[in-house]
Amino acid sequence: MEIVKLNFEYSDDVTVINKEQFEAHMRLYEGYVKKINEIDELLADNPDLEDANATYSEFRGIKRGETYALNGVILHEFYFENIGSTHNEPDEVEMNFLSRFFGSYDLWKKHFVATAKASRGWVILSYDPRSDMLRNLSLDLHDYGNVAMSIPLLVLDMYEHAYFLQYADNKAEYIDNFMKNIDWSVVKDRIESL
Ligand SMILES: [Fe+2]
Repeated sequence: MEIVKLNFEYSDDVTVINKEQFEAHMRLYEGYVKKINEIDELLADNPDLEDANATYSEFRGIKRGETYALNGVILHEFYFENIGSTHNEPDEVEMNFLSRFFGSYDLWKKHFVATAKASRGWVILSYDPRSDMLRNLSLDLHDYGNVAMSIPLLVLDMYEHAYFLQYADNKAEYIDNFMKNIDWSVVKDRIESL
């Protein structure tokens, strides 16, 4: 089954990145959608399974690409969905939820921002059912650092491609502007559907 690209439109409510940065980023997202569809076709088309080898093989290349591209698609969709609101403080539901696990909203925020500074790929505020905990996960790549079964509630792209065109090396300003542009209503829906 083909994975269909979702449509995200740039609007004035998106303040964390400008239009040029948004559009460059969208082209990358589209690239991941294209690649996972190519990979799925290769997998459906009788690939050489006899050749499978963990040092190098064509099949290994397909398998590495599969998790990389698919996580790339999914995490970008979470990210683009949860930006674009000028109402930048969480409501009671999110505030209470964060406080329950982190002690306070401010403490959660400090941890989330520090995790962003410490990450090369993604930061995911995730609910992990195994430990019944909220965690700020740090990923260095789409497929490096995620936790099985964890459910993303808020996703921040920390790949340089997400901000460098606009912010150059001013990573702190990008993070700060992201924190001011979170669509908390989306986070609330995600919490409520846990
Ligand atoms: Fe990205």
